[in-house]
Amino acid sequence: MEKKQNSIMEWIDRRYPLTVTWKAHLAEYYAPKNFNFWYYFGSLALLVLVNQLLTGIFLTMSYKPDAGMAFASVEYIMRDVDFGWLIRYMHSTGASMFFVVVYLHMFRGMMYGSYRKPRELLWLIGMAIFFVLMSLAFTGYILPWGQMSYWGAQVIVSMFGAIPVIGDTLSNWILGDFLLSDAALNRFFAYHVVTLPVLIVVLVFVHIIALHETGSNNPDGIEIKENKDPETGIPVDGIPFHPYYTVKDIFGVIGFLIVFCGIIFFAPEMGGYFLEDNNFIPANPLSTPDHIAPVWYFTPFYSMLRAVTVNFLGVDAKLWGVILMAAAVVIFCFLPWLDRSPVKSIRYKGPYFKIALTLFVISFFVLGWLGTETVTPLRTVLAQIFTVIYFAFFLLMPWYSKIDKVKPEPKNVTK
Ligand code: HEM
Repeated sequence: MEKKQNSIMEWIDRRYPLTVTWKAHLAEYYAPKNFNFWYYFGSLALLVLVNQLLTGIFLTMSYKPDAGMAFASVEYIMRDVDFGWLIRYMHSTGASMFFVVVYLHMFRGMMYGSYRKPRELLWLIGMAIFFVLMSLAFTGYILPWGQMSYWGAQVIVSMFGAIPVIGDTLSNWILGDFLLSDAALNRFFAYHVVTLPVLIVVLVFVHIIALHETGSNNPDGIEIKENKDPETGIPVDGIPFHPYYTVKDIFGVIGFLIVFCGIIFFAPEMGGYFLEDNNFIPANPLSTPDHIAPVWYFTPFYSMLRAVTVNFLGVDAKLWGVILMAAAVVIFCFLPWLDRSPVKSIRYKGPYFKIALTLFVISFFVLGWLGTETVTPLRTVLAQIFTVIYFAFFLLMPWYSKIDKVKPEPKNVTK
């Protein structure tokens, strides 16, 4: 039996580098031996991606991208299609969990300095994935054609209208009409089911290739490739990805699935955070909801959009809001060059970085919460204060990361 298997493998290997790839990327790919909890989220992001692709295919089989039929077709999926409710909740919960997992994945990178040399490009590819993920979520949310789909999209597209000179033409071009209508729904459907999924799959593939070129960082932020066994040439602090990390990742998958199933079966709307109440009402272009808020994963940025209330330097407040919101996302791309600390990991960084990162996380949560609430004068002031704290984390980094009191890094990885 084994002999037969070997000869099949030989046959394949002569025609395709299967064993070579298996060894290079799994069985003989050496990863640092001190990965912790925070290293689950890359493989979990992969899992959620596959979930979205598979459930998305099944949803597409019964969904109708037509402004007159879209809402009813989603209700049909929920009530009449066999297990349609399950497929839909797997997809809608998957969308929110994608952001949970990716935000934690990025936070890990920020804690351990995974964006630093030599992983700058890996980080930038990650940011490209993040942009595509945001577009995927935005275009997907329009499809059920409920009140929030309609008015949420209206708010976002009208942001383009704030751009001087070309604004109006640009938003008409995006919509394919003078207002949000069937034409827009059709094209957003095309982006959501074809263009963006293909793009994200390609980018994730490139992300992994880049990761395997530099090798993984780790909670100590030291390069294991710089400390190799002179005889074997294998990093002293490395262990083969397979079977050690495949098994560890399966453990993470089980933990994740418990949470994921818990939400799907017991709280699929998550109190209006994953599926908003207003989206159970069909889109009505003649009736604006009292309170328009995007889904939770966009609310920190939405708060910043609303935080600018005065015209400034001759530029309209709305345009400033749009610029600020875009800057809040794009600024992550500059992290590799903003961080001047001699060490990578939070374990060896000093108090300034720890305080700055804590304040950043608090501001992200507070802005996220404010974005889900209606505007009051007090909340606007809070949003302004926390927007300043959010940006201070990045803009002051070259200064505080340089003067911070760091600890010496160990030669070998620690626990
Ligand atoms: C669909 C989304 C994504 C998928 C499937 C994905 C997948 C992965 C996987 C499997 C790993 C290796 C395992 C791990 O280190 O956890 C990884 C590492 C990494 N990813 Fe992602 N990723 C995604 C999005 C992002 C984003 C948005 C960023 C940041 C902007 C990012 C930055 C990184 C970095 C810096 C590493 C290396 C971390 C280290 O070695 O410490 N990724 N990614």
